[in-house]
Amino acid sequence: MPTVLIIGAGLNTGKATAETFSAAGYKVAVASRTQKLDSKYPYYAFDASKPETVPTLFEKVTADLAAAGHTSRPENPFDMELEEFRRGQNINTTSPYYAAREAVRGFEKLGPSGLGPDGGSFLFVGNGLNTIALPGFMTFAVQKGATAHLIHNLALAEYDGKPYKFYYLDERHADGSYVTNDLSGIGHAKEFLKLAKDSKQGPWNYTFVSGKGYEKFPPVEVMAWNP
Ligand SMILES: NC(=O)c1ccc[n+]([C@@H]2O[C@H](COP(=O)([O-])OP(=O)(O)OC[C@H]3O[C@@H](n4cnc5c(N)ncnc54)[C@H](OP(=O)(O)O)[C@@H]3O)[C@@H](O)[C@H]2O)c1
Repeated sequence: MPTVLIIGAGLNTGKATAETFSAAGYKVAVASRTQKLDSKYPYYAFDASKPETVPTLFEKVTADLAAAGHTSRPENPFDMELEEFRRGQNINTTSPYYAAREAVRGFEKLGPSGLGPDGGSFLFVGNGLNTIALPGFMTFAVQKGATAHLIHNLALAEYDGKPYKFYYLDERHADGSYVTNDLSGIGHAKEFLKLAKDSKQGPWNYTFVSGKGYEKFPPVEVMAWNP
């Protein structure tokens, strides 16, 4: 039975993803600092600000199941102190780097027959900041953008030809503008399942509209803050 580990599993995207994958026959494990989802999903206490604990998380999940965005005031983009910068980098870049490494190790251990016809998938919830400059969001953009580079390389260079897929998901409104608090949990969950079930690597920078799927939008270099 395929297994999915949802890191940062909360009541929106995490819950919808757990339900969607569970209904599709996956074993679902969830990780966050506090348990928010139904106890039917094996829960792992995990703090993404501590990337050194990522291998232990994966070891525990494998053994059991066999298998923050900072905003600055636009007039002061350098308002973040080093410790907070490092913490955000840990959450959005270093822990995802480590998580991708452990995921690939799991894929390699399973091998093509263990992975099954769909192959293995590593899915990261990003946003438009990897390509769009937005006043007040510089440090968050640095963090998400670094992970976009990670996914880009893994998808197109490092594991090209392997049955592994890597995606940076960026939900947009139908007109291409970014989503904020209206992020759709169920919209993400459906795309996750679709991508997990498709054996082929699609566009790694997966801009999508909830309920519609992948859409390529014309590049926009800078946007005004307009929540
Ligand atoms: N596409 C876009 O433009 C867009 C727009 C908005 C948001 N986003 C992205 O969407 C994602 C979250 O959305 P959501 O609606 O699913 O949020 P959510 O329902 O609030 O769930 C996020 C969960 O992450 C967990 N978490 C927070 N800090 C953590 C840490 N240090 N270690 C482990 N888990 C942690 C929290 O649980 P605990 O507190 O219990 O740990 C929380 O329940 C973020 O990656 C965000 O950047 C994208």
